[in-house]
Amino acid sequence: MTGPTELLGEIADVGRDRLRGGYSRHGFDRADLELRDWFTERAVRLGLSVEVDRNGNLWAWWGRPGPDSVVTGSHLDSVPGGGPFDGPLGIASALDAVSSLRAKGFIPVRPLAIAVFVEEEGGRFGVPCLGSRLLTGTLDPETARALRDQDGVTLAEAVGRFGLDPDRLGRDTRLLDRIGCFVELHVEQGQQQSASGGDHPVAVASSIIPHGRWRFTVRGQGNHAGTTDVADRHDPMLPAASAVLAARSAVLDRRRARATVGRLRPNPGGTNVIASSVDFWLDVRAESTSDTRAIVHEVTEAAREAAEAEGCELAVREESFGEPVTFDPGLRDQLAGWLGDVPTIPTGAGHDAGILADRVRTGMLFVRNPTGISHAPEEYAEPADCAAGSRALTTVLERLCG
Ligand code: GLV
Ligand code: MN
Ligand code: MN
Repeated sequence: MTGPTELLGEIADVGRDRLRGGYSRHGFDRADLELRDWFTERAVRLGLSVEVDRNGNLWAWWGRPGPDSVVTGSHLDSVPGGGPFDGPLGIASALDAVSSLRAKGFIPVRPLAIAVFVEEEGGRFGVPCLGSRLLTGTLDPETARALRDQDGVTLAEAVGRFGLDPDRLGRDTRLLDRIGCFVELHVEQGQQQSASGGDHPVAVASSIIPHGRWRFTVRGQGNHAGTTDVADRHDPMLPAASAVLAARSAVLDRRRARATVGRLRPNPGGTNVIASSVDFWLDVRAESTSDTRAIVHEVTEAAREAAEAEGCELAVREESFGEPVTFDPGLRDQLAGWLGDVPTIPTGAGHDAGILADRVRTGMLFVRNPTGISHAPEEYAEPADCAAGSRALTTVLERLCG
C-alpha cells in the first residue's frame, strides 16, 4: 500500500457517472457492491476480519471486537455526480493508517475497527447517514424499511436482495457498546482551513450546524402548454419557483444559514406539458435549530401562498433532521495536542461522526480542500495533503489504541 491517493486510484473507475460527470455511488447499488468488495479485499490483505452488521455497515477489525474499541471510518457512497474524496478519502486513509501501523510493528492494546457506513449521502433513499442512523437508533427501522428509491424499490427490498434480514434493521446495542471512541477523517468541504492562516493540510473539527431535508409536493393540473390560457392554469411549477426564491431570501439575514433546492422533479416532465405535480427537496442548515426551522417555515409559507394563488395543493414532509453537534471537547483537544499546530474548525456538512457523537466520544479530522468545492466532480485534495491526513490519522490511532 503506498498511500491514500494511490488507494483512491484503485477505485477511480467504479461508479463513474457518464451523464452527470463525477461519481454516482449509492447504497447497495452496483458501484457500492464493487466498492464494498474492494474494501473487504484490502482489509483482509491487512489481516483484518470483516463483518457486515445488521444495517449493512462494514466493520474491519484488528483484534477481537470488544468494549472500548477505537473506530475510524467514513463512507464509500457519493451524491449524484459527486467527487472522489467525500467519504472514500476517510476509508482509504484508514486502510493506509492500519498498513503504516502494521509496518512499524505496532500492536493495538484496544481493538481497532474501520467502519464503512451505508448511504451517508442519502442519494438513493433520501435520508442522510442512513447506516449510522440505523445503528444508533436515530432512525426508526419501520420508517427506514418503507423508504423508496426513485424506481420505487424499498429499503427493505434492497437490503433483502443484498442478503440482509430487513426485520433486523435498527439500533445495534451490542455493536454500539463496543465503540469507545470514533474518529472520522474527511476532506474539508469549504476553505476554512486555508482561511485559518498558515500552511495546514490537516484540521480538527469542532462542531456541525443543524441540518434537515424536507420534501415538498405541489399538485396542480397537467395540461397542454400551447392551448391552456394563463387564467386556466394550475401550474405547480410556480409555487416551486416561489419556494426557490424564498429559500434564498430566508437565509440572507441569518448567521451561517444555507437553504438549497438542488433537486426538483416535475411530473410527467415534458417540454410542452404543464406539469400535473412537482416534487422538490429543500436542504436547510443554520447556526441554530430555531433558525433552521424558521427558514423552513418561511419557505413553506411562500410556497403555500403561491399554491393558493395558482389553485394548487401543497404537502410538506420532513425527511430528516439533525440537531447541532459539538464534538467531544476532550477528544478534540487530545487530537489537536497530538497533531501539533492544527486549526480547529466548524463545518456546515453532515457526517456519520455527527450521528455517532450523540452516543460515543467522537472527533473528526479534515484534509485541506484547495478550492473548497465538494459534492461536485471538481472536488479535490492534493496528494501531499492526503498523505499528511493519513499520517495524522496514524498518529491518532496509535495514541488511542496504544
Ligand atoms: C453531506 O455531505 C451533507 O452535508 O449533506
Ligand atoms: Mn457529502
Ligand atoms: Mn461525507
